[in-house]
Amino acid sequence: MSVFTEETRERAREIIARYPADRSRSALLPLLHLVQSEEGYVSPAGVEFCAEVLGLNKAQVGAVATFYTMYKRKPTGDYLVSVCTNTMCNVLGGQEVYDTLAEHLGVGHDETTADGKITLEHAECLAACDYGPVMTVNYDFFDNVDPQGALGVVEELRSGGRPMPTRGARLCTLKEMAVQLAGFADERDGAVADGGPGEPTLRGLRLAEQHGISVPGFDPNTPIRSKAEADKAAAEAKAKAEAAKPAPAPEPAKPAAATGSTAPDVKAPDDKSPQVRTAETRQPDARTAVPDAPGTKVPTDGTPPAPRDAQAAEAAGAAANPPAGDGKPAGDEAGAQQRNLKEAEAGAGANGAGPAVASETGVQK
Ligand code: FES
Repeated sequence: MSVFTEETRERAREIIARYPADRSRSALLPLLHLVQSEEGYVSPAGVEFCAEVLGLNKAQVGAVATFYTMYKRKPTGDYLVSVCTNTMCNVLGGQEVYDTLAEHLGVGHDETTADGKITLEHAECLAACDYGPVMTVNYDFFDNVDPQGALGVVEELRSGGRPMPTRGARLCTLKEMAVQLAGFADERDGAVADGGPGEPTLRGLRLAEQHGISVPGFDPNTPIRSKAEADKAAAEAKAKAEAAKPAPAPEPAKPAAATGSTAPDVKAPDDKSPQVRTAETRQPDARTAVPDAPGTKVPTDGTPPAPRDAQAAEAAGAAANPPAGDGKPAGDEAGAQQRNLKEAEAGAGANGAGPAVASETGVQK
C-alpha cells in the first residue's frame, strides 16, 4: 500500500494543474517537495509516486532528485541546520560556528542527532552574504550568528521550542516547510510581508545615491503585496495600458501593381528590425521568388513541407545511419572504433608516435 494518502494525491493533482497539459513534467520540483513533506526525505516510494503521477520513469525522477541538495536522500531531522562556510561567511567566523555545533551535537555534515531533532550541514553560500556569518534552520535565517548564539538556537529546538529567526515567522518543522516549498500558502502569522530590507542589504543603494545614481520612483521600503493585492494592481495596470493605446494607424498606400516594387513601404533604415532588413536584402521585390540556397529545401511560397516529405527524409537518414548492435547511437559501434584506432595508430606510427597512442588507449596491437 502506498505511503501517500488521498490528500497527497489531491495536492499532487493541484500542483500538476498549474502547468500546461503538455508540460506536466515541469511539476516535478514541487512534487518532490510534496513527497518530502510526507516522509522528511525523498524516499524510493516518493520517487515512484512522482514517476507515476507524471508518467515519467524512476530514473528520470531520480536524476532530478539527486541533483538538488534541497531534496534529501535519507531521513532528515525535524530541523535542518545549515551553516554557511563559504568565503564571505567563513572569513567572518562561519567555520567556527559550524565546528562548535558539530562538536556540541556530536554529528558531522549531513548527519542527524540521535533524538532525530537536528540535522547539521554546511552550506555553500545561503545568499545572505550581507549578514554573514549566517545560519538557516529549515531555510529561515539567523543573521550575524556567533558560536554561542547558534548553540542557543539548537538547544531551544531540542527542548521543544520554536525560536524566532532574524527574519520571517517563528520556525516550523522541515516537513511543514516542504509543504510551502511545494507551493502551498504559509499560514503562519508574519510569514510574509515582515518589513523592508535592512541596512546591510541597502548599502549598495546608499552608495549609489551618494554618487548621484538613482532609479526614479524606486522605494526600497515598498511593502511586499499579498497575492490579491498584486492581482488587483496587475489588472489595473493592464486596463490603464489598454486605455492608453493609440488608435491604429491608417493602412499605408499599396505600391503600384505594375512595378511590384516594395519601395514605398520601406521605412527609414533605423526603424527596421534586423529580420526585415535581411529579408529586404535577400528579396527586394516581393514578386520575385528567391531560389533556395544549394542543398536546402526551403519552400518559397511559405508552406511547410508535406508530412510525407519529412517522413521520407527521416527514413532515408535512419537507413544511412543504422544504430549499433549494442543500442548505442550510430558511430559507437565497437568494431568501427577498433578500426579507427588501428588506422590512427598506423598513421601515428608513421610519424614516430605509435607507442604513446597505444599506451593511452590501452589497445593491443
Ligand atoms: S557566503 Fe555565506 S551567505 Fe554568502
